[in-house]
Amino acid sequence: MALRCRACNGSNLIQFLDLGKMPLANGFLTEEEFENEKFYPLKVGYCADCEMVQLINPIPPEILFNEKYPFVTGSSKHMEVHFDELADEAIHLSNKRAPRLVEIGSNDGTLLARAKDRGARVFGFEPSRTADIANERGIRTLRTNFDMLAARNYIRHGPFIDIIVATNTLCHVHDLNNVLLGIKMILAHDGIFVFEDPYWPDIIELCAYDQIYDEHKWYFSVSSVMKLLDRHGLRLIAAHAQPTHGGSMRYWVRHKNWNEEPSILLPTRQIYESQYDLERLLDFQQEIEAEVKNLKATLQYISEGHRIAGYGATSKSTVILNLLGGEEQSIDYITDTTLFKQGKFSPGAHIPIVPPSQLRQDDINHIILFAWNHAQEIFENEQLVRERNIQWIFHSRKIKDEKLLQQ
Ligand code: TMP
Repeated sequence: MALRCRACNGSNLIQFLDLGKMPLANGFLTEEEFENEKFYPLKVGYCADCEMVQLINPIPPEILFNEKYPFVTGSSKHMEVHFDELADEAIHLSNKRAPRLVEIGSNDGTLLARAKDRGARVFGFEPSRTADIANERGIRTLRTNFDMLAARNYIRHGPFIDIIVATNTLCHVHDLNNVLLGIKMILAHDGIFVFEDPYWPDIIELCAYDQIYDEHKWYFSVSSVMKLLDRHGLRLIAAHAQPTHGGSMRYWVRHKNWNEEPSILLPTRQIYESQYDLERLLDFQQEIEAEVKNLKATLQYISEGHRIAGYGATSKSTVILNLLGGEEQSIDYITDTTLFKQGKFSPGAHIPIVPPSQLRQDDINHIILFAWNHAQEIFENEQLVRERNIQWIFHSRKIKDEKLLQQ
């Protein structure tokens, strides 16, 4: 039976990647939970009609985001600055003194608090318990998923919205069309919708295969986004590349009939997007296998004479560890600043998660940087990096070349 595209409903979805069976990427667990751990197929497809790259058979949200989901706010200062700038830019572009601003997936309200300080009237939609933190700090937040139904309820009582923001949210949503219908419904006629997500061509360029996991259901490019928006009566007016999450794109969107010519140039990289056609995608599986093989050999070689630790118990690390076919056991432990993860074990591979202080006590100089998207911040702030000659290990040689240059 032909696979169906979940974005355009066409029947030309082509599978190009199979990463085997994976545990839940964020399913950090206790020893007692090992025997009931579940594994799910991780396969990716490309729609030959609308170009949307997507997970095939995504795991339903009720399994992915259960009560144990370690929803935590970014502990990164760089991300806070990034959100500050986004709020400023959006308010500036809205050309209003007190714009109404809604954030979809507003977490603990960090971005909304900043926008509120700048005069915006803010409101958040956030399904996780971080919504409670936002409300406690005075940022009005509805603890729910945003979709057409939520939009309809909202607009029944509230006015249209001048600015809608969604950062690293759309790539997670199960029913993308439902969310876009909701956005179209509440956006004022002269409103702006801005969203940003990991940029698919960057994932391929860096061979960042660890970005492919159960929660990332959509992998956007400028061309697939343009087609998606067009089907929903919306129009991309600008796209700006961002360094966050190892390479993201920020998309600025208006209603299709808004009479403003695209004012900000698309990045030159869009010109090269045509390179990421099916032929290129079909090579990706082999490229990933080559990187995994290289990482296995590196870990094996180092572990003969040295201990190895991991830095950052990220959902991305789950993908890497579960592709290593046993070699992941050469990693003693993974450090992470998140209290919820400390004392637990990594999904599938069952590597212990410990606080970063452990590295100071131990004589470990070889560290695989799973939180590579925060490399610059870690190199700047982690005292250990200044005290010791750390040999950083990366799961992809292109990421290694790029990140070590920042050191
Ligand atoms: P993320 O890639 O999804 O943002 O996850 C980053 C993880 O890395 C998160 O669990 C927190 C952890 N982390 C540290 O342990 N130390 C750090 O300095 C940073 C920036 C993150």
